[in-house]
Order: sequence, then C-alpha cells, then structure tokens
Amino acid sequence: MTDNNDTIDALSHENRTFAPPAAFVAQAHVTDDSLHSAARADLESFWATQASKLISWQQPWDTVLEWDLPYAKWFVGGKLNVAENCLDRHVQAGFGDKVAIYWEGEPGDTRVITYAELLAEVERFSNVLKGLGVRKGDRINIYMPMVPEAAVAMLACARIGAPHSVVFGGFSSQSLVDRINDAEAKVLITADGGYRRGEVFPLKPAADEAVAQTPSIEHVVVVKRGNNDVTMVEGRDHWYHELMADAAPSCPPESMDSEDLLFLLYTSGTTGKPKGIMHTTGGYLTHVAYTHRNVFDLHRDRDVYWCTADVGWITGHSYIVYGPLANGATQVMYEGVPNYPGNDRFWAIVEKYRVTIFYTAPTAIRTFMKWGADEPSKHDLSSLRLLGTVGEPINPEAWMWYHENIGGGRCPIVDTWWQTETGGIMISPLPGYTTTKPGSATFPLPGVNIAVVDDAGQEVEHGGGYLTLTQPWPGMLRGIWGDPQRFVDTYWSRFEGSYFAGDGARLDDDGYLWLLGRVDDVMNVSGHRISTTEVESALVSHPAVAEAAVVGANDATTGQAIFAYVTLRGGQDVDVSTLRDHVATEIGAIAKPKAIFFTPDLPKTRSGKIMRRLLRDVAEGRNLGDTTTLADASVVDELQRRAAETSSED
Ligand code: PRX
Repeated sequence: MTDNNDTIDALSHENRTFAPPAAFVAQAHVTDDSLHSAARADLESFWATQASKLISWQQPWDTVLEWDLPYAKWFVGGKLNVAENCLDRHVQAGFGDKVAIYWEGEPGDTRVITYAELLAEVERFSNVLKGLGVRKGDRINIYMPMVPEAAVAMLACARIGAPHSVVFGGFSSQSLVDRINDAEAKVLITADGGYRRGEVFPLKPAADEAVAQTPSIEHVVVVKRGNNDVTMVEGRDHWYHELMADAAPSCPPESMDSEDLLFLLYTSGTTGKPKGIMHTTGGYLTHVAYTHRNVFDLHRDRDVYWCTADVGWITGHSYIVYGPLANGATQVMYEGVPNYPGNDRFWAIVEKYRVTIFYTAPTAIRTFMKWGADEPSKHDLSSLRLLGTVGEPINPEAWMWYHENIGGGRCPIVDTWWQTETGGIMISPLPGYTTTKPGSATFPLPGVNIAVVDDAGQEVEHGGGYLTLTQPWPGMLRGIWGDPQRFVDTYWSRFEGSYFAGDGARLDDDGYLWLLGRVDDVMNVSGHRISTTEVESALVSHPAVAEAAVVGANDATTGQAIFAYVTLRGGQDVDVSTLRDHVATEIGAIAKPKAIFFTPDLPKTRSGKIMRRLLRDVAEGRNLGDTTTLADASVVDELQRRAAETSSED
C-alpha cells in the first residue's frame, strides 16, 4: 500500500511511552475517560453539550444532527454569529481589556490588541465592507501577510455573513485568479506587502495581475504594511486605513443560520483544480472551540498560546482565528520566518511573551534540529507547558528532540491529525489523560469515530490500511463549492457509508494509531498539500515542455520533496531554474520542484500509464524491482543514469 513499509514497521513498533506528567494532570481540563464515555453513550447529545457549553446561540437549534449521507446538518434551526462569539461576548463578560493578540512583526515591531480593540476594529471594517456593497452571502477574497488585519478581515466577513476565501500569500497571482473566479468573489482584501526574511515581499502587484482576470471583483482593499510602491486604481482600489477612518464604529452582528456558509478554503486534490472546501457556522465553531480547549488544555486566564501557522491554511483558520478567539485565549501572532534575524527567533518570542502552549509543524521541528539545540538553549523556555504538532507525520526522533529541547522533558506533546476537510482536530492525545508514544497521534478524540480498513473496506484491528471516518462530526466539510459530484466521488465513494481521508494508517498492538501519509497523488511538502497533477500541469504549460511526471519523494526535512521528470518538445531547450521559476509563477514558491530531471521518455506501462511508483523509487535512490510491465525498459536505465548525474538543487 505504501512504499516504505519497513520504515513504518519500525515506526509503529516504537515502544517508549510518556504518561501525562502529574503536575500537568493536576491542572488539566480532561484527566479521565468521561468525555469518551459520554460520546460513546450518545454522540449527538455529546456534541450538543459542547455546543451549548462553549458557544453562545442567538436562537437554540431544533435538531442536533440531520444526517443524509454524505450531507450533514448540525444544530439545525440554531442561530448565531461567529464574530459575536469570538469578540462581543468576551467584552460583554468583562474581558475587554484582556489581550487577544500579541502581534510581532518580523522586523521586531509589535502591537498589542485587546478583545475590546479587536472588536472595535472588526465592527468598523464590517461597515467598510458594507459600504463597498457587500451583502450577506457575497464571497470575499483575502490575500494577506500575517498581520492582525488578516484576522480582522475574516471576522468582519463572519460578522456580516459574507463567506471568506483566504488564499495563502505565498500563492501566485495565477492561483489567486483561479480561486477568485471559482468563488466569484466581489471584494479582494490584500496588503501592499509583508515582511519575510528581512525583506518586503510585494503582494499588491500580484493582486493587480490577478484582478485583471477576475471580472467579479469590484473593489480591492489594501492594508499598508510593507510601504512598498503600489499602483492604486481609482475607484477600484482603496487604502484600508482611509476607509477605516471614515467608517461608523458600530455594526451589529448578522444573525446567521447554523448551516450558513462561513468560509471556503481551497485545497489541492488529485486533479489539477483545487477544491473549494465549504465550512459552515455552528458545527464548525463548536468543533474548533471544543478541540482548542481540550487538546491544548487552554486555561484562558493564564495561558499564552502560539500557533505558528499562516492564516492562509486551515490551521490558521481553526487554531489562530476561530478556535482561540471563541475560547477567549491570549495568543501570539508572528509575521515572519523562524530564522530572521537569527535561528533562535521563535525561542526569543516564546521567552518574550512567556508562551505556554506552542503549536507547529514537524518540518519546522526537523529544521530546528538541524540548527542545533544551542539555539533554544539561548532562551528561557520554562513558560512552556504543552507542545503540539500538525500537518504531517512526526518521526520519533523529531518528537524526542522536541520533547527534550523545547519542552524540557516536562511538556506533553499533542500530535494532531486532521485536514482542511475535517475543519478541526480529529485524532490527538488528550494531554492530561493520554499516554503518548513518540510518533503516534494516538486515538480519535471523544466524539470522533474512525476505522482503519483494508482494500475491501473491512475493518483492520491490527496493522495497516486506509483511514476512514465512520460517523459525521460537526466541523466536517459540507461540500466542494460548485462541484457536488466531486464531493461525493472524492470522499464518499471509496468505502461505502464512510468518509475516506486519503491517508494510510496503522494500528499497533496497543491500538495506537500511526498516520502514514497520503495514499493518493497528493504530496505533503512541509505540511502543505500539493497535488502532483497541479505541478505537472504547471510544467506542461511551459512552451518547451512536452510531458511531465511529478512525484513526492521522502525528504529528511520537508517530509516529501517534489521531484519532476520532464520531456522536452523537439528542438526546444530550457534550463532547470527557468522551469522551477515557471512553477512558482503558476502556483507559488512552495510548489517549486526540488529537482527536475530531463528525460527523453517517461516510464509507462503498455497501456500508457506513467509509473509513478517507479519514479519515486528513482527519486529515493531505491532498487527498482520488477519493471517487466514497462513498455520500454531502457527508459528506466536512462532515468537512473540521469538521476545519478543530476545533483538536486535547493
Ligand atoms: O496526510 C495528512 C496530513 O495532512 C493532510 C491534511 O492536509 P491539510 O488539509 O493541508 O491540513 C493540514 C493541517 C491540518 C492529511 O490528510 N496530516 C495532517 N496532520 C497530520 C498529518 N499526517 C500525519 N500526522 C498528522 N498529525
């Protein structure tokens, strides 16, 4: 099923265990089986309890769940507003002066924003959007650096009932075009630029290029951050600060139906076209608030929480904006990279703000390992009490390094498995209850039901198989924007009655789950999902390229790295760096292949199918095994020769 079964075997036979430390248990929200047993006894009433405990409703729901597979509706008939839950109710409860966001710009500038201030900013910006003609149900695109205005924009959309679609600032203008056009967004919110690695990266020029090809966009709002030169188009483009100066201060929250669309977030699938994952209001907010509270053991009176994701990804949506703010958390938001001005920047931030809960990706941890334990040891990290990871499997070595060098041996680690589609965390330890094993995401959370199944859909009790989700959950995707058939085909057709996550998983003898990565043509590079087909299409769109095959090969730091095999059109020539830049222009820098091999032919079966498995073997330098099904076996010799010759580029 996967190519690296030996590694997986070794991995899931990891037998070190870490029980929750007594000092942690003494103060934890969850220390026993009670949530699990409540969820097992009655799934719907379990979630209903969470929804009424954690969320404020303007009107109660009539029905907890309507489940017409694969369509779920949660808290049907309930009315609420997400921004009101994230802001107004905390201010009304007397927490207006509590810090919501400690923002740290990459150059070292800072902003401290209280809940009252954040609410005021969101109300004004809601009025700005209304003034630009935005009405409930209109889609808004957001293309921003990691500045507080990104969260303000999202919350203002939620306040007036206009679903947002955030596009990661590292994506190219072409990616932005595709996403704006698919959603037919009316307004684009962007910035002049942001800071990255000590320099300003311009966003507005990319936004301009995009908007030239997006007929639905009527207005562009531009936050001033980079102070780089930008062109403003009269009547279409507006400075955020100018609009805000004129905006009325008060904007009552729209009353939203529990099942109204809250946002779209595009993610890569197995075809070239990203999917607009649809998330709605009441169920999503319940799921992220519940998981944020219990997985991170949030105590809002004393914790300082920091998630290092970007708001452009689902982790930023659920665990920077909606989960933490719904729970009234105080959090750090950081604009830049971990190695500016030095390799210890993250640890300087932890020390400065006395961060207690820290959530990052395994790729980052492996990078910190490379930089060495001296970097964190320059700082006082004693405030930390809980560590988390997300986005890709974490290898036991990285887990142990994190545990020892960042957590000082005292912090539980929560390895959280979930997806853009699940909305919130699904599989994770409960830090005051679960005994962890380095590299295992352990067990499904209370309220989440899974099965590992074989090819035939039969449940596997021990060993490997496919991860499926067997019951609906509140944060689940409600569909793919504009493509209901793809929703059914992608998630609900492979195993009858269950959601197919696209991941392989293994259950060890103690019932612990080991996530094994994607089993489809989706790569996971530094915790980001990139489709092989998307990169292939980008390569083939270059005039010199005849054909391309892309695979994700194991990489010690980034989890997987993109390897591309390219055949050129007759008489054409192009160099590797031009092609890599071309992919960056088409998709974004994150999709640049690490290595590109030119080859006169691609290895194909007699029926013409490209043998990706074999290309992965070449990329990972493995023995090729049986190639007898190949139409032309000499292609492989040639590939191996070229792979050995070509050294991979950065
Ligand atoms: O393959 C799994 C991997 O990331 C995929 C989801 O990617 P995305 O929608 O971009 O969301 C990432 C952040 C939630 C999954 O299908 N993945 C995520 N978390 C883990 C993981 N793989 C192993 N262990 C995890 N903890």
